[in-house]
Parts: sequence; structure tokens; C-alpha cells
Amino acid sequence: MSFKNIVVLVSGGGTNLQALIDAEKRGELGNGKITCVISSKADAYALTRAEENNIKTRVLVRKEYSDIASYSKAMCDALIEEKADLIVYAGFMTILDENVCDAFENKMINVHPALIPSFCGKGFYGLHVHECALEKGVKVSGATVHFVTAECDAGPIILQKAVAVEEGDTPESLQKRIMQEAEWKILPKAVQLFCDDKITVEDGKTIISE
Ligand code: GAR
Repeated sequence: MSFKNIVVLVSGGGTNLQALIDAEKRGELGNGKITCVISSKADAYALTRAEENNIKTRVLVRKEYSDIASYSKAMCDALIEEKADLIVYAGFMTILDENVCDAFENKMINVHPALIPSFCGKGFYGLHVHECALEKGVKVSGATVHFVTAECDAGPIILQKAVAVEEGDTPESLQKRIMQEAEWKILPKAVQLFCDDKITVEDGKTIISE
């Protein structure tokens, strides 16, 4: 089984990146190794986490490109340069166009802080997802790891984990519990499954062999 270069895309604090770094240190990313972290923001704390762990960093600021197409082209070139076998969106808040999705079909995964198909799609990111879940009054939310396709949050689902909503939850407390109990567990697990060639996609659905 071949060794895989993992490139992680970030925009913010990078706690999901940290979960991946910790999993790699414990030997839990299978054949994968995090070889580069690319941020859409120059001041993302995720970059510090990468540097502290001697992982190469690159910054591609969205605002420095006139449109999504030129940003996507620059990202695609960077991913090819980094010889990415797997690309992980870990709190990456910029949408890339279908050219990138096609170039890396079934090689890009995203963690979303809700149980897709609830509270997902364009505009549903970060704390806002949890505000909407509480507004609706759901009793269960959670996280989803899925392959990235041109349609936002609509690609084949790899793993999901449910988390109970508690009386008195705020968007912040729900976000924290979903990160701790779901995101930081299922994202490294999905990366491990991918790197060990245990995920196949058929008819828009994944089949996982363990
Ligand atoms: C995470 O909760 C992640 O699921 C979410 O942003 C947060 C990033 O936190 N992503 C999205 O909402 C994407 N639609 P982190 O930078 O600490 O990993």
C-alpha cells in the first residue's frame, strides 16, 4: 500500500488540524502523513500549530485573487506542487470551483459540524450552523465527514456521529461538544480509512471495508 501525502486546508483556529496532528503522532493516520498546511488567511492560528509541529505551511489569501476561478487555479497548482494524495478541509471556509473538485475527485474530504443533510450548504459554516440547529430546536446534532464535490456539502458521506443537544445549550457550548465528541474523532478516523484504501465510492455513496 502506498504512502500518502496529506494536505490540510484551514482558515481559522485549527483544532481539527490539531486532532489530525495528534492522531498522526499516535500512529493513527495509517499510511498518511501531513506534509503541508495551506491557509486562506495569513493570521490563522492553525498556521502556528503547523509550524510548531514542523509541517510546511503556505498561505493563499482569497482576497488577493479577483474571483473564485483564479483562486481555485492557484490552489490547484499548489496542490499539484505538493503532490497531494488527500486534501482535508479542516475549517476551510472558502469554496473552490468544480475544476479543483474534478482534478481531485474523491480525494478531498471535509468535516461539517452538523448531520448532513441538515444545516448544510452555502452559508452554513462555523457557529452559524449551531445557531440554526438551536433555533430549530433539534434534540440531536453532530458532525459529518464527506467527500467534496462541486455542490457544497453534497458529496458522498464517509462518517457521521450524533451528539445530543442539552437544555440550556448556547451555539458556543454546542459547537464545543460537537467538536470534542464528534469532529475530532471522525475526521482522523476518516483520514485513516482513506489512507489505508478502505473507502470506495459507488453511485454517490461510500462503502467502507474494515
Ligand atoms: C469546525 O467546527 C468545522 O466543522 C467548521 O468550522 C470549524 C473550524 O474549527 N467547518 C465548517 O463549518 C465548514 N462548513 P477549527 O478551525 O478549530 O478546526
